[in-house]
Amino acid sequence: MLSFARNGRRVIDIHNHILPGVDDGAKSMAEALEMARIAERDGIQVIVTTPHHFPAEGGPFVQQARTRVTELQANARAQGLSLVFETGQENMAGPDVPQHLQEGGAVPLAGTRYLLVEPPFTSYPPYVEEMVFQLQLRGYAPILAHPERCASIQADQEIVQRLVERGILMQVNTGSLLGHYGVESEKAARALLERNLVHVLATDAHNPEGVRVPVISEGVKAAAGIVGEERAWEMVTTAPEAVLRGRAVPVLEPSPRSVGRRGRLFGLF
Ligand SMILES: [Fe+2]
Repeated sequence: MLSFARNGRRVIDIHNHILPGVDDGAKSMAEALEMARIAERDGIQVIVTTPHHFPAEGGPFVQQARTRVTELQANARAQGLSLVFETGQENMAGPDVPQHLQEGGAVPLAGTRYLLVEPPFTSYPPYVEEMVFQLQLRGYAPILAHPERCASIQADQEIVQRLVERGILMQVNTGSLLGHYGVESEKAARALLERNLVHVLATDAHNPEGVRVPVISEGVKAAAGIVGEERAWEMVTTAPEAVLRGRAVPVLEPSPRSVGRRGRLFGLF
């Protein structure tokens, strides 16, 4: 459970596979509601549902997403939960993402121009950068999901710095800071934090048990040990709140050594 002073700020998880029956996350509404209870106990107030994809049921995916989120919201409310759910999607960073957006086959976060994109776990093909820049040209703001889990980025964090300098935001998994994805992901997550190259922390939760549960507090505490309590807190409150409102997320100047220097604001909004 989060114990920091919230100062009225909402705790928001922008990467979560709680939407039931659509990907490798929650298998049923019962599992989704169990995840919701865990999240609420931990202090999370808003979850942006970000499944990998939706099954083809006809109609634009964005409409399917809204329908399913409405269903989840109603069930959670009936269980006495006060969590708020928003629509979203975790898009595989393929060259066709801009086209999917145009055709309604990709869902931005909470109806904004922010889009969660997932790089490959092993390599970092050149089309990733081309794709995110194409998204920017179309007025979208890509957020790279768990860059610390990509082997190429673990070996070369300059990739991330280059992207951040061009206005791409980085979302690190709370579980990475706790070693849930192995030593290399943990080292990369910590190094990216030290270099001011992380903007949002999120759970990337998949299940109601095991290490991929929707618990954000432990990761925030781990981050606080690196960047300080306030900055860690911002990454699960102020920054994701700006995302939900379609506003610019405050971005610190990337630093090779020290942390905490205030930088300029990047953003498209
Ligand atoms: Fe994910």
